[in-house]
Amino acid sequence: MSKIIILGAHGLLGQNLVKQFAKTLDVHGIGIEPAEQFAIDTLMQYSRCDITDASQLSDIGMDSDCVAAINAAAYTNVDGAESDSERAYLLNRDAVQNILEVIPDDVPLVHISTDYIFDGSAGPYRETDPVAPQGVYAQSKWDGEKLLLDSGQPAIIVRPNVLYGNGEKLTSSFVAWLVGELRQGHSVNIVDDQFNNPTYAKRLAEVVDLLIGEHALGAWHFGSREVVSRYTFALKIADVFELDAGLINPISTAELGQKALRPMKSGLICDKLVEKLKYPILPLRTELELLREEMYAG
Ligand SMILES: NC(=O)c1ccc[n+]([C@@H]2O[C@H](COP(=O)([O-])OP(=O)(O)OC[C@H]3O[C@@H](n4cnc5c(N)ncnc54)[C@H](OP(=O)(O)O)[C@@H]3O)[C@@H](O)[C@H]2O)c1
Repeated sequence: MSKIIILGAHGLLGQNLVKQFAKTLDVHGIGIEPAEQFAIDTLMQYSRCDITDASQLSDIGMDSDCVAAINAAAYTNVDGAESDSERAYLLNRDAVQNILEVIPDDVPLVHISTDYIFDGSAGPYRETDPVAPQGVYAQSKWDGEKLLLDSGQPAIIVRPNVLYGNGEKLTSSFVAWLVGELRQGHSVNIVDDQFNNPTYAKRLAEVVDLLIGEHALGAWHFGSREVVSRYTFALKIADVFELDAGLINPISTAELGQKALRPMKSGLICDKLVEKLKYPILPLRTELELLREEMYAG
């Protein structure tokens, strides 16, 4: 069976990619955690490797038998990056160079980026719109993208917005966090002035599979059908998961005082992807219902 390499296999997107690709390919997952910590480790051959250390990457089996390598590993703590910029650049920029040094010239590298490369003054954005990253996380992600684009490696760059989905031990899913808080009866403050069209990780994994199948090089945007404020997103989550929406308080970004600047009016226009893949962009509510089914199915 042909193989695929998934870097960041234990992350939110990584876990969804492993489940998607294990249906058809021999999956080699890379992560920084020890093996056998996750149930999905039975679906792949897992190796522990710190991708910021170039010498560790040479042993991960990145050879011409690979259909592709997918880089879903990242430093994803947007506010943390402001005080830990060295680590953010090591992972989001320099590790891309490390991967490029070991990947064969003809194997496509799929790299996951973000809508944060745009400044959020006039979203939603197309793939061709000018970028203007604000903050360390955003700049480090754009630097990683640029490195790959300038390298000449066959590259598929996929940009999600706020990513949510099912998985084990999630640290970066807004839905998992909110559902947990509301179930415990905690009240939460959610910004009502940051807009985007959130991305469901299970369907993003399907999209990555289709893009690899089509050898669709270049940049691709993927999110849901509507651009909504984070507050509206939270209300929809409470509704679909039958939780108390009264615990959700709207707050402005200025009041919340997040450390890093956020793109306020963001969102991703997905027309290019729809045209290429004939893949439907679904309403946010439908995707949340799919997630609920996925979570309750175990
Ligand atoms: N989350 C969002 O809202 C969002 C929005 C837009 C774009 N994105 C982008 O989508 C991609 C996937 O995000 P995600 O939410 O799935 O991230 P995540 O859950 O934080 O997962 C990132 C993964 O990277 C791994 N990793 C970290 N440092 C590593 C290292 N030195 N060597 C090897 N692996 C390392 C982590 O391993 P451990 O589990 O061991 O820490 C983790 O599995 C990222 O490129 C991110 O920038 C995310």
